[in-house]
Amino acid sequence: MKKEARSGTFSGNMKLPIHRWFRYSAGFSAEWVESEIRRFEEDTNQKAKVFDPFVGSGTTALAACATGNESFGFDGHPFVARIAQTKNLWYLNELEFKEACQLVIEKARKSKIKTKRYDESKLLGKCYDFETLSLLDNLRLAYEKLATKNPIWELVHLNITSILRACSNVGTAQWQYILPNKTKSKVLNVYEAFLAKAELMALDMKYAKDNKWVNSAHICEQDVRDKISIPLCNLLITSPPYPNNYDYADATRLEMTFWGEIEGWGDLKSAVRPTIMRSCSQHSAGDKVVLDDILREPLLEPIIDELAPVARELEKVRLTKGGRKTYHTMVAAYFFDLAKIWKNSRAVMEDGARVCFVIGDSAPYGVYVPAERWLGELALASGFKSFKFEKLRDRNIKWKNRTHTVPLHEGRLWVEG
Ligand SMILES: C[S@@+](CC[C@H](N)C(=O)[O-])C[C@H]1O[C@@H](n2cnc3c(N)ncnc32)[C@H](O)[C@@H]1O
Repeated sequence: MKKEARSGTFSGNMKLPIHRWFRYSAGFSAEWVESEIRRFEEDTNQKAKVFDPFVGSGTTALAACATGNESFGFDGHPFVARIAQTKNLWYLNELEFKEACQLVIEKARKSKIKTKRYDESKLLGKCYDFETLSLLDNLRLAYEKLATKNPIWELVHLNITSILRACSNVGTAQWQYILPNKTKSKVLNVYEAFLAKAELMALDMKYAKDNKWVNSAHICEQDVRDKISIPLCNLLITSPPYPNNYDYADATRLEMTFWGEIEGWGDLKSAVRPTIMRSCSQHSAGDKVVLDDILREPLLEPIIDELAPVARELEKVRLTKGGRKTYHTMVAAYFFDLAKIWKNSRAVMEDGARVCFVIGDSAPYGVYVPAERWLGELALASGFKSFKFEKLRDRNIKWKNRTHTVPLHEGRLWVEG
């Protein structure tokens, strides 16, 4: 595949300093973002002030640090926002960070405590054997005893978080799914992984300083369906959730369970879902979205003639399917949420601003949803001037079991302010 075509994926970031601290499969390419910032500055002769309403693991924000540009990033998912905020602490003292890691490992090694959390029927017990979970719990307990309000400890927290999947012998990689029946060929030893990650993070912190990264990213945990208060920006680079049923709330279930933030899948409803947009059927079902009500929302007016028949068809088709998934309300709620986000984004972008949404379409139960076109229409309705779609690649593999053969694609929606 051409390098250009891969700009929608995070995989290349796993070789890049700071970006590689946490694998967030939903992310996009940092090198591409950097190149877009430079291109904007060449084209317009202006310094870019960058906005990313769905900052995820912080790719846009960190790319802006690398190019010396101020940026503003938001994520509604509390755990994901914390990861981005912690990566944005790259400017702290790396030696102090290594010392903190050293204190944690010494305390963990001295501990004779065996985990009390091992239960084969629960997520942690499915992901780890008793010994591995005991080692991880020793690290966690040592961290919890030693951590102070000094932000250096956030980096230690991220270190532990980032090794959790690599230390599990079951299938934990890629997206949210945990596959207890699959085993990994390479499993890392807990303490070795923690120490190796501490070295790598310290090296990266030095790299960023040596390469004159600028500490100018502002990253907040916020639902961008609510009003956004930032100075006007002139370049927006982002990737929203796609309407493809990927459950962002579930993306960090293992990590949040490990840290005791949730006990099980059910807790995601109160811990994460309220502050993220609705892009999966579990979410719209949990919110008890009523299709008739949402289709009457004035913000959906610009696309209602196309959206309503699609939602109605999904409402019928689901009755013929075993799972009876609520894609009809998911699709309506998805575009309603994004209509609000376009409106809020318009308010913080200068006239003439450049906007890029990396986005893909979808076909739940085989019913086609032309996401990029409808998003373009909603952008115009919120006051942007024009849009065009640049296709990057074809796809129709995201739907588990390939229950349909509708051709799908992914690309960049370019919007002019
Ligand atoms: C495709 S990911 C962005 C990934 C990012 N480009 C990166 O490289 O890490 C979309 C993000 O939008 C966030 N999100 C969903 N709804 C949101 C909302 N209402 N407000 C803010 N962020 C939201 C999700 O938590 C997720 O992290």
